[in-house]
Amino acid sequence: MSSYANHIATVQARFDAALTATGFDSVLIYAGQPRVAFLDDNAAPYKVNPLFKYWIPVLESPKSAIYYKVGEKPVVFLFQPRDFWHAQAEVPHEEWQQHVELVVIDEQEKMTAWLGDKLAAAAFIGEDFAEPVASWQVKARNPQALIDHLHFHRAIKTSWEIENMRAANKLAATAHLAARDAFFAGASELEIHHAYLAAIAARETQLPYNSIVALNEHGAILHYDMYQTKAPAQARSFLIDAGALYKGYCADITRTYARESGFFADLIAAMDDAQQALLSEIKPGISYYQLHVSQHLKIAQVLSEFGFVKGSAESIYEQGYSSAFFPHGLGHFIGLQVHDVGGFLANDRGDTIARDPRHPFLRLLREVEAGQVFTIEPGLYVVDQLLEAHAGNNDFNWQRIDELRPYGGVRIEDSIVVGEDGNNENLTRDAFASLANH
Ligand code: GLY
Ligand code: MN
Ligand code: MN
Repeated sequence: MSSYANHIATVQARFDAALTATGFDSVLIYAGQPRVAFLDDNAAPYKVNPLFKYWIPVLESPKSAIYYKVGEKPVVFLFQPRDFWHAQAEVPHEEWQQHVELVVIDEQEKMTAWLGDKLAAAAFIGEDFAEPVASWQVKARNPQALIDHLHFHRAIKTSWEIENMRAANKLAATAHLAARDAFFAGASELEIHHAYLAAIAARETQLPYNSIVALNEHGAILHYDMYQTKAPAQARSFLIDAGALYKGYCADITRTYARESGFFADLIAAMDDAQQALLSEIKPGISYYQLHVSQHLKIAQVLSEFGFVKGSAESIYEQGYSSAFFPHGLGHFIGLQVHDVGGFLANDRGDTIARDPRHPFLRLLREVEAGQVFTIEPGLYVVDQLLEAHAGNNDFNWQRIDELRPYGGVRIEDSIVVGEDGNNENLTRDAFASLANH
């Protein structure tokens, strides 16, 4: 069986279990359609429903839908309108077409006519802000129990999904190297962003999220994307968090560079060591929360060794000091979505795992299992809004912190496939290692 055949069989089995457990026998998954801006006739970039691309790698055919009834072959209604204003995305002949019944439609009414009474018995999953979708009579719209069941099981990736993420990481790593070279050549943030896109012949809307392209102090702004058009007089540091998509699957990679050797280059090396040390702790059975805390302790050790904060790693963590420098979560599931779903689900019945108020931004609390894919992305930044809470505290070496501020901060982010017994795969490092100029 090919890996895609195995994938679609798994998706089908997961839908069978989810539909049966939640009282449905069929589902209509709508691909979605572009939203038009307020008082305007221009559409925002279209993003396909992730549960649509879970079945088939068709990303740019809005108004399409998949009808699936338990135990039957899925029916794909591929929307190809007669429209002389717009080009239509080509849908190449691919393996998925052998596994579905393909019905090409040029009007949505042709799908509802084909479905007839079946529509009223189906659960609907998708966006329904537009007509005629908003008026379709279905059994239920986006039932939470069905969605929770599907989201819980999506955490375990099929081998086809992992192959796609390997390819996405290779694309993103290629673009990262072009961005790195542009930084060392003295480019502005906007020029670096363009170098990234050009390296993989992508447009901005084809990336999974807004790239973070940050020189100097901007590295401390966690989601910085206001690219400056002029290069600063001195570009001391560069933090880039940028990804790529392959067949609808995401890469999410961060790297940080220092222009010169010295204090900031040493800090990057120490954070890289802390991230690598954590990777060796990942194995089935441990909770992701434990990994997050363990990473805090390693960052607390770096804070102590570099003289930013006084005390042992434990005391720096226990007093909440490390959270002022590392405020975000260790990482998140990744797959069809960059922040893939289900990180808080305790089971497929929709129960959730209680969050720890000490770590409000941690998106993943599940136990680690073989087949999961998640990011590991420790950071250390000078975020003045967070440091204000510690003003006047002599455990903090404010002079040393002032020395770091002009560099922004450090983040290093890889995506990890969990293997049995800690036999993990680092999709990101493997991708960089496969490129000649890494
Ligand atoms: N690039 C978004 C994140 O790292 O979560
Ligand atoms: Mn991430
Ligand atoms: Mn990222």
